[in-house]
Amino acid sequence: MKDLSELQGQIDSIKAEIREKAESVARNSKDLYEMRKSFLDSKQGKLSALMKEMAQVPGDQKASFGKAVNEAKQWALGFFEDIDKKVREQELKLRYESEKIDISMPAKKKECGNLHPITTVRNQLIDIFTGMGFSVYEGTEIENDFYNFTALNTPQDHPARDMQDTFYLSPEFLLRTQTSAGQIHVMESTKPPIKIVSPGKVFRSDDDATHSPMFSQMEGLVVDEGITLCDLKGSLDMFVKQIFGEQTTTRLRPSYFPFTEPSVEVDVSCFECGGKGCKLCKGTGWIEVLGAGVVNKKVLENCGIDSEKYSGFAFGLGLERIAMLKYGINNIKMLFESDLRVLEQIDD
Ligand code: DAH
Repeated sequence: MKDLSELQGQIDSIKAEIREKAESVARNSKDLYEMRKSFLDSKQGKLSALMKEMAQVPGDQKASFGKAVNEAKQWALGFFEDIDKKVREQELKLRYESEKIDISMPAKKKECGNLHPITTVRNQLIDIFTGMGFSVYEGTEIENDFYNFTALNTPQDHPARDMQDTFYLSPEFLLRTQTSAGQIHVMESTKPPIKIVSPGKVFRSDDDATHSPMFSQMEGLVVDEGITLCDLKGSLDMFVKQIFGEQTTTRLRPSYFPFTEPSVEVDVSCFECGGKGCKLCKGTGWIEVLGAGVVNKKVLENCGIDSEKYSGFAFGLGLERIAMLKYGINNIKMLFESDLRVLEQIDD
């Protein structure tokens, strides 16, 4: 038999244990939950276990003992509730601290790619010319000597072959030096009226600040009845206004290309100074942008087109040159080095 005071002592020491542990152990709600369980769980809890002692309590003291244990349980419940409230408040405070965001901080920059300037220029030119009714013909980079030179009125030993230092793959095949080769393919396979532009890569053994062994050109070809140099001038005027600005005009200077007669070099009025003379136009007010001319009758005939009935104009321009002028780039290598610091600045 146990007497009530002995059991009361047990209750008191459990209470003291709860107080002490609550201070040191219960730092978070999970620990606190575990601790509460260890005292109040109906099966394993220390306070609940006291009830098992009932059997050893003399009959007349059982009621008082039960009451004392229940009071201790009530006290413990309230005690844990208070601590739990404090612990949760503390936890919430810590969470707010750690999840605090500074909305005045600059946002992280999202890297976003853009098209290469040559692609942009190419797309713009295609847009402009298709807008004028041209279609797009894509030739091949490996060409037959015939298409690249002979059919363009530049037979073997023609001095104009020296104008383009050619990469030969074999006596017959070469890397095309000009998109003009496409003119022949189109005229061979299509009956006039013909109205095409042909963009693509070309290759020449040439390497300095304004030349690269690989560069891009765009060819233009119109063949129909009654086509004259005036049609060329009119089409180019429309084109330069769209690419360099409304005020831009063109000027034709006599030149020589084997596949055009007459041949011209086309200048645009300087879009930087409006024609007054500046660094870009080297004080002349004009900038050379492309070669062009009336299609040589011999070239039409080489392709089986009646040169008495039909005439045409053709032009060829360098995309790198247009990009360099448009974006103020003075070394062609900047277009091929893929330096993001440079390319990022060119976004049209
Ligand atoms: N193919 C010439 C070159 O690469 C450019 C050219 C000039 C093309 C006159 C033409 C043209 O169609 O008519 O230098």
